[in-house]
Amino acid sequence: MVSTAASATVSPAADLVAPVRSSEEFLIFGAPLICDEEEREILSSLRSGWLGTGPKVAQLEREFRDYKEAPYAVAVNSCTAALHLSMLAAGIGPGDEVITTALTFCATVNTIIHAGARPVLADVDPATFNIDPQDVAAKITSCTKAIVPVHFAGRACDMDALAAIAQQHGLMIIEDCAHAVETTYKGRRAGTFGTFGCFSFYVTKNMTTGEGGMILTTDEKHADRLKILALHGMSKDAWRRFSDDGYKHYYVVECGYKYNMMDIQAAIGIHQLRRIEKNWERRQEIWATYQNEFAGLPIGLPAQPDDGTRHAYHLYTVLIDPERTNLTRDQFIADMTTENIGVGVHYQSIPVHPYYQERFGWRPEDNPYSFRIGQQTVSLPLSPKLTDRDVADVVRAVYKVLHR
Ligand SMILES: Cc1ncc(COP(=O)(O)O)c(C=O)c1O
Repeated sequence: MVSTAASATVSPAADLVAPVRSSEEFLIFGAPLICDEEEREILSSLRSGWLGTGPKVAQLEREFRDYKEAPYAVAVNSCTAALHLSMLAAGIGPGDEVITTALTFCATVNTIIHAGARPVLADVDPATFNIDPQDVAAKITSCTKAIVPVHFAGRACDMDALAAIAQQHGLMIIEDCAHAVETTYKGRRAGTFGTFGCFSFYVTKNMTTGEGGMILTTDEKHADRLKILALHGMSKDAWRRFSDDGYKHYYVVECGYKYNMMDIQAAIGIHQLRRIEKNWERRQEIWATYQNEFAGLPIGLPAQPDDGTRHAYHLYTVLIDPERTNLTRDQFIADMTTENIGVGVHYQSIPVHPYYQERFGWRPEDNPYSFRIGQQTVSLPLSPKLTDRDVADVVRAVYKVLHR
């Protein structure tokens, strides 16, 4: 357990004047833990001359697939690309509807639109922040083709309920696992429930490649198509065309995208994956420390992990309800920033954004739980890079801001 002695040390007057941290030591939200192994691996890629898609991407695909106990893995340059290609490989297009959560990053919704389909939003369960299966069932029409659940903050969605709905209505499941590398549900790994599971290796994620993503799929034909779509629609293995066997012709078999991952990115990811369990343990420790330290404060804390699941501890989110704290969420963010602690918001609900309001006529009140959470939520730092002192500073800052 991290030792913070937090709650005790906030009252002296001097503490109230000086920020908890100096501006030189601003605690960046989501800074990744990068070690010597990543640096050496990148250097070896640079020196080898093979910077683009090559053997290291193939290695990361194999090792990620094995870690997730999945049949096939295809690396891409973001989770956004992963979601977009999964929609296309699923055959989703104009005239189709895809149901997803109103509490997610915009990419989940944008990729449905990129595929030509219409996104339909379901509200979340107010305790878990995950998509509510009952609301999913209520939103199904004859045009519905797929459900895109997001394992929010690393907490597994109710996959039994979603799988039953999908089976009953003949729908595909495409899992948005941007937060859920380590998540399991009843012993099964997130990303292996749906026809596709999409992962993000963005800088702040549980493992990073800078920018990057991965798609898991159960079907070899889907995996082959995804590889083709990710590299201009060129025939599979076209990335080998400049190999030391000499130049090989490639053939364009459909109009694809430039979504491939580079070896320089995979060089980081290979070592991030090797450290995934160690980093998970550290985040679990920090998460538990926050839960203990904040238990008596007038703020909403995340629900404990559900039985039979493994939480990936991607985000630690608290709810700032002005009626309980006399402080708005945005004032809390401003005050934490004054204390030189970086925080995040995951997320304002999708219907608050003008583009979706104008295009689909969505109103925030239509998904009331997502809207309320989106107005009150703040994510505190949870990177494995945090030292015990960093964690203690976060706790002290929260106390100080709430007791001002
Ligand atoms: C839930 C969710 N889906 C999708 C994405 C998109 O991931 P990427 O930045 O790798 O494209 C993110 C990234 O923040 C996310 O949080």
